[in-house]
Amino acid sequence: MAVVSYETRGDIGIIWIDNPPVNALSQALRDGIYRAINNAQGDSTKALLLICKGRTFIAGADISEFGKAPTEPAFNTVLESIEQSSKPVIAAIHGTALGGGLETALACHYRCAVSSATVGLPEVKLGLLPGAGGTQRAPRLTGVEAAIKLITSGNPIKAEAALGMKLIDHIVEGEALLEGALAYTQQLIDSNAPCICVRDLSIDPASYDPAIFDASRKLLSRQARGQMAPQCIVDCIEAAATLPFEEGLAVEQKLFMECMHSSQSAAMRHMFFAQREASKIKGLSKETAKREIKSVAVIGGGTMGGGIAMNFVNVGIPVTMLEINDEALQRGLAIVEKNYSISVKKGKLSEEKKQRCMDLISGTTNYQDLANADLVIEAVFENLAIKQQVFTTLDQVCKPGAILATNTSYQDVNAIAAVTKRPEDVIGLHFFSPANIMKLLEIVRADKTSDEVIATSMAVAKAIGKVPVLSGVCFGFIGNRMFSEYGRETQLCLIEGASAEQIDRVMEEFGMAMGPIAVSDLAGIDIGYKVREGMSDEEKGDPRSYCIADALVEQGRLGQKTGAGFYQYDPQTRARSSDPQVTALIEAQAAKYGVTRREFSDEEIRDRLLLPLINEGAKILQEGIAQRPSDIDVVYVFGYGFPVYHGGPMHYADHIGLETVYKKLSAFQQQTGEDYWQPAQLIKTLAESGSSFARWAKDQG
Ligand code: 3HC
Ligand code: NAI
Repeated sequence: MAVVSYETRGDIGIIWIDNPPVNALSQALRDGIYRAINNAQGDSTKALLLICKGRTFIAGADISEFGKAPTEPAFNTVLESIEQSSKPVIAAIHGTALGGGLETALACHYRCAVSSATVGLPEVKLGLLPGAGGTQRAPRLTGVEAAIKLITSGNPIKAEAALGMKLIDHIVEGEALLEGALAYTQQLIDSNAPCICVRDLSIDPASYDPAIFDASRKLLSRQARGQMAPQCIVDCIEAAATLPFEEGLAVEQKLFMECMHSSQSAAMRHMFFAQREASKIKGLSKETAKREIKSVAVIGGGTMGGGIAMNFVNVGIPVTMLEINDEALQRGLAIVEKNYSISVKKGKLSEEKKQRCMDLISGTTNYQDLANADLVIEAVFENLAIKQQVFTTLDQVCKPGAILATNTSYQDVNAIAAVTKRPEDVIGLHFFSPANIMKLLEIVRADKTSDEVIATSMAVAKAIGKVPVLSGVCFGFIGNRMFSEYGRETQLCLIEGASAEQIDRVMEEFGMAMGPIAVSDLAGIDIGYKVREGMSDEEKGDPRSYCIADALVEQGRLGQKTGAGFYQYDPQTRARSSDPQVTALIEAQAAKYGVTRREFSDEEIRDRLLLPLINEGAKILQEGIAQRPSDIDVVYVFGYGFPVYHGGPMHYADHIGLETVYKKLSAFQQQTGEDYWQPAQLIKTLAESGSSFARWAKDQG
């Protein structure tokens, strides 16, 4: 099937693009457009319309071709052929004109769009910059400041806003794009409209402050810490403003290739596909029936329950919140209301939308009110007996076919399902805190969970804007099971002599959103303390890995909420600083457990914290808890602040090489004598055969 076809209607030649699913600019498509433009030069048409079939205009270059040998015709050659056309070329946009798609439209002489269309240059999200003139043409239309914002954020904008920024010239009334675009093109023909090449427009030096470039670089070095693409984008836009078009284009080409060959972009492109792959369940056919979810109930209106409820009402699904008594219920509803009010105050939400959301939440203390819910999510205290009691009651009151989900972090979902007569309807839906904001949703498949319930849960996750990842049942599922390794090593480094500042600095320089000690202080050190209260000594593990935290809690230092934890906090600015009292406390604990304190190199801290994540990830794969290594990467990037430009722990492991990972793990095992450092069998096998997690995943199919 040809990806490009041509037809004429009166004076207009229509170049149809048809490359599903998203009309990505593959080699075949570039070639097809190039030929169509050239062939049309000799016919009797007076203007050419570039329009797409399917759900969208061109959504960008074909990302799967990146990193491979370039193929002809080059993208810029195709765009030049459009720009040099002797008759006007008009882009007709619906769906999303993104990246190379918008760049193609910007090379056309005019652009029209339906009002539901969005346009943008999201390359930065792939560790790239627009590489087909986007950084040179966009600022010639929008001005420097708006272009910096558009391209460094990568966020798409609606057609109306694009019209305001001059990125498009005309909005077609209604949704009938072809008819509207034909009428617009005819108007252009009738008025003898010239071929306007964006490259020939100039940027008025008086329209921007030259200091904007350095100011933007500085701002982005904070907002997009460690990332090279945003900095390169500013360089390109500066070139657009100060150099002739061709020279600016050369700067863009050079920096685009540098970004393209960087490990950062490789990691971010990996994450793009990983995120989409994660929603595919092996062995589950696309035809698996899904249940309709029109009403939801949430049990427990605490930290998690309120946030979970907000996800559903935000997309118009009514929620009933159930609490143990009226006081707890009112508290839960008040927290939700407060969260919405904060968004209103920040201008992120209108008062009407807030009210619409609040109207969709009702409260109850009576289980009978849950009889008609399609999906029930339990978020009560983290205690198996209480959760089993809740599920016993749900089994009695909920209608047949209702999905019964638990938000447990650590409890055995099989043991929860077992108290019901319908374990096939029971599943884990593990949200992350704050549940209305964090993107990750672990979907925990218990032994008897039905395919239909899994397929429905995946669809629900997408409907509420979450990134779902399937996990099997184990203590802590994928994310928290790995995180406990990271937490243990953090505490061991601390007692062995690394300072809190050094540990946090090393991990923040690596790119983690926040260092692990600062995270503990933010979350509250008492959370882990309370969890340990219910554990046996064996379950708690090595006392050296929690004695400092326990001692801090016993001194009332619970973290930021009490103004002091591992750090002390300035009451006004919340700035953290070290506290000699904590150093003394750590030294006392080290003496108590016979730990000799020493200096740490930054590299050792990085290895001590990251290698156990990778090792545990490999064990999780061996056991079939995660479907594929890239799913683990999705969990870490979307749930734990792992830097996207390292692509998650498993991609990072492939980047440094599994042989190195194996050697380092073995060295730590020899050094410490601890079993947990023993390399997972999967790492050993892959290292010995010179393979990688990515290759292994491909072989697994
Ligand atoms: N290249 C290759 N494949 C792509 C693609 C692209 N640019 N965009 C989407 N796809 C694939 C997806 O991998 C997915 O494949 P699958 O079904 O096998 O998993 C399929 O198309 C559908 O994609 P989504 O599931 O994401 O579909 P949605 O409808 O949810 O979203 C979209 C559509 C908004 C277009 C979204 O896919 C998207 O954001 N795509 C990427 C856009 C982008 O980043 N463009 C810039 C590319 S870089 C570039 O253009 C460089 C240039 O400057 C030189
Ligand atoms: P929380 O203590 O803030 O809230 C629990 C709420 O459940 C309380 O309001 C309590 O009144 C209510 N409750 C207790 N028993 C109940 C019952 N039988 N019926 C109805 N309501 C009852 O707890 P939080 O933090 O919201 O945790 C809830 C669940 O979510 C736990 O399983 C936890 O492990 C899990 N979770 C917590 C995360 C967090 O960061 N807080 C993150 C992910 C999961």
